[in-house]
Amino acid sequence: MIRTQQPRSLFFLLSVLLIILVPSCGPRQVEDRVEDLLRQMTLQEKIGQMIQVSKDGVRPGDVAEYFIGSILSPGGGSPINNSVEGWREMVAAFQDEALSTRLEIPLLYGVDAVHGHGNLLGATIFPHQIGLGATRNPELVRQIGQATAEEVLATGIHWNFAPVLAAAQDIRWGRTYEAYSEDPALVDQLGAAYLQGLQTLPEDYTPAEDQKIFVLATPKHFLGDGGTTWGTSETEGYHIDQGDMLLDELAVRNLFLQPYQTAVDLGAMSVMPSYSSWNGVKMHAQQYWLTDVLKEELGFGGLIISDYNALLQIDEDYYTAVVTGINAGVDMNMISSDFKGFISIMEKAVANGDISEDRIDDAVRRILTVKFMLGLFDRPYADPQSVDQVGSEEHRQLARQAVRESLVLLKNDQQVLPLDKNAALIHVAGMKADSIGVQSGGWTITWQGIMGNLQPGTTILEAIQESVSSDTRVEYSSKGSFESSAEYGVVVVGETPYAEGAGDKDELRLSESDIKVIQNARETSEYLIVVILSGRPLIISEQVQMADAWVAAWLPGTEGSGITDVLFGDYPFTGKLPFTWPRSNEQLPMNIHNLTENAQGCDAPLFPFGYGLGVAGSAPIEWIDCP
Ligand code: BGC
Repeated sequence: MIRTQQPRSLFFLLSVLLIILVPSCGPRQVEDRVEDLLRQMTLQEKIGQMIQVSKDGVRPGDVAEYFIGSILSPGGGSPINNSVEGWREMVAAFQDEALSTRLEIPLLYGVDAVHGHGNLLGATIFPHQIGLGATRNPELVRQIGQATAEEVLATGIHWNFAPVLAAAQDIRWGRTYEAYSEDPALVDQLGAAYLQGLQTLPEDYTPAEDQKIFVLATPKHFLGDGGTTWGTSETEGYHIDQGDMLLDELAVRNLFLQPYQTAVDLGAMSVMPSYSSWNGVKMHAQQYWLTDVLKEELGFGGLIISDYNALLQIDEDYYTAVVTGINAGVDMNMISSDFKGFISIMEKAVANGDISEDRIDDAVRRILTVKFMLGLFDRPYADPQSVDQVGSEEHRQLARQAVRESLVLLKNDQQVLPLDKNAALIHVAGMKADSIGVQSGGWTITWQGIMGNLQPGTTILEAIQESVSSDTRVEYSSKGSFESSAEYGVVVVGETPYAEGAGDKDELRLSESDIKVIQNARETSEYLIVVILSGRPLIISEQVQMADAWVAAWLPGTEGSGITDVLFGDYPFTGKLPFTWPRSNEQLPMNIHNLTENAQGCDAPLFPFGYGLGVAGSAPIEWIDCP
């Protein structure tokens, strides 16, 4: 009896144990894997995970020696061999080092692919966000997010510092073109679409183990980057970028918070704070906004990546700056080069009890979770599936569609547009008609952008030449000086490339040379069409009557054919202004939030928010002379 009972109770015990254990014997949950790693990590290894250094700020061996968790290419941070192969090799070399460390934690590489993989030669360059705002087309924006993710992944990169979720309130800001709109609702809608495009695993994609995110998006810059006041920036040469937002909390929430709530709800796992301040205190130092609001109230479970060297701006004393920023909620510090200084401060701060080990564990937990969600532990190198995607015909067609839909027809007297493909002679004027660099704007090849035609694509001049009949002659003059008269003249004017505070300008006008080109071309064209390439509305009240038609084309990127698709009438104009278009510089800042509904005559904008001919509800503007 006793002998038979014993095995029976043992059997029972084993069965109970099995029932308890079996459910957790399947693939281990990400949380368990993260905790498991965290338990094994030394303080040095944890601090290493909290570092992101610019690729030029490390020497070979540093990633392995200092357990650096992340590397970035900032604007212009391309390898010498600027090709898909060159990028893959560069990223793989860093990854090799990371994987050679004791715990083999993979490296996460980040880049600003803000309108396509802009630094990469041969990438598809999509319109900057302002142009996408004019399309009002979330499905298109989602597809652009996915196409960008594919091009970024092809180079072995899993992290994109985009989209910008600023609802820019003052077009004098040099980052206006990085914003979809001045309207938070439009920013919310298109930011969400882009994030989903970047992050959602495509149906035909085979994910790596644990992979939930295709390419990591980074809604930025939290919070109120587009709400600073002109003249408050303390950064040398800047006026409004990185400035101070002088608004009460309710206004800040109403204008800027919703797009972040949406992004978090849709699975955003990385957010970048703004360089700017709120009532005199840098956002990177605002525990209230970063931890209480973003992480706790909005429920953000991802990592906060600082902006480039932004912790340095918190306080003159770097120790104080680091302690403040990390305690405010920054999880990873983006550094140009002095990562060793950061390491020694972090070690000292932990020893002094100024930064708790819990805070460090929280940061590292967030970082490791993201790395698992990207499938990096399983597939740390470049995605073999997406090599051919860079600059592919499919992506270029998508970009071309985006250009078409982004065009806003401001004026079209006597229905001069669409142009006739069979016209005998068309004049094309202005150096900007023949410049991929100008039409792409900042964040292309270099941080500030370039003027020339380095990035492969189609200029507006080439697109016109390709669109017309074989009997049509196209004559080009950069100055707009032509010997004979033509039925049509197309002049391309606008801004030359800039990025960030370098583009802060209190006077937004066409340059004297652009005005001269319009004047010259006017003399020899029966009908004159002006295309403006710009990162924001420019003040054109004095020139608007010099031409029969005006088209706002924003910063369209590499696919100039999208412009001719619409100029020659193969597609209709459907774009609507994503920003209020002011009449004069004196009116600035002017937007839907500070404009009284009954602003009339010279107090009204030149073109209101949402305006665009060819679009229901937009009637041609009545021209009035204002002092
Ligand atoms: C910009 C960020 C960008 C970072 C890295 C900073 O200057 O403000 O938007 O992500 O550089 O390139």
